[in-house]
Amino acid sequence: MDQKMMRLCIRVIQPEEIKKITERNQTTRLDEYLKSLSKEEITKIMADQSAVFDIIQRLQSLLDTEYSAVYGGFYNGELISYVALTEIIDSTEGKKTNTAEIHVEVLPEYHGQGFGFEMLSRVIEMVFSETVYPFLNYTVIPSNVVSIALVEKLGGVLQEPKSYAEEMLLRTYHLNRK
Ligand SMILES: CC(C)(COP(=O)(O)OP(=O)(O)OC[C@H]1O[C@@H](n2cnc3c(N)ncnc32)[C@H](O)[C@@H]1OP(=O)(O)O)[C@@H](O)C(=O)NCCC(=O)NCCS
Repeated sequence: MDQKMMRLCIRVIQPEEIKKITERNQTTRLDEYLKSLSKEEITKIMADQSAVFDIIQRLQSLLDTEYSAVYGGFYNGELISYVALTEIIDSTEGKKTNTAEIHVEVLPEYHGQGFGFEMLSRVIEMVFSETVYPFLNYTVIPSNVVSIALVEKLGGVLQEPKSYAEEMLLRTYHLNRK
C-alpha cells in the first residue's frame, strides 16, 4: 500500500462515536432514493404493497442497524470516517450466515479525497485476516453513484437481485476474499 493510502489511523471504536458522521450524512438518503426513481418505477412499486413495505423496512434497517464491529478512521487526530460490520442473519432460519454486511461513511467535507477507498480497503484486509468470511456483502441504493464507483473500484461483484423489491431498491455486491 503506498503512502497516500496510509493517511488514516484506523482502530476499533464504540458505535456511539459514529453518530457525528451518520447524522450529517444520512438525513437525505431516503429523499435521494425517492427522487432517483422514474414515474414508472414509482407506479410499479406502489402497485405492490409488499414491495413498499419491504423497501421502507430495508431502508430503516440500513439506517438503524446495530453494528457488531465498528472501525474508526482518524485523520490528524479527528474521526472522519467509519466502517461498520453487521453479521448477516438468515431471516428464514434465524441463523448466522458466516458473512457480514460492510458499510462505510466519510464526513462530507472529506469526500472525494480517497478516504472512503482507504478505509474500506484497509478494513476489508483486517476483517479477512481475522475471520473466515468468504466474502463481505455491500449494499447500495442505485442513486448512490459514488458508493457504486467505490465498491466497483474495490473489485466488488454485483449480485443478481433475489426479488422484485430488492431489484427496485438495492444493489448487492460481494467483496470476495482474495
Ligand atoms: C460513499 C462514500 C463513503 C465515498 O467516500 P469518498 O471518500 O468520497 O470516496 P473516494 O474519494 O475514496 O472515491 C472512491 C471512488 O468513488 C468515485 N467518486 C468519488 N467522488 C465522486 C463524485 N463526486 N462523483 C462521481 N464519482 C466519485 C471515484 O471513482 C473514486 O475513485 P477515483 O478517485 O480513483 O476515481 C462517501 O461519499 C459517503 O460517506 N457517503 C455517504 C454514506 C454512504 O453513502 N455510504 C455508502 C453506503 S452504501
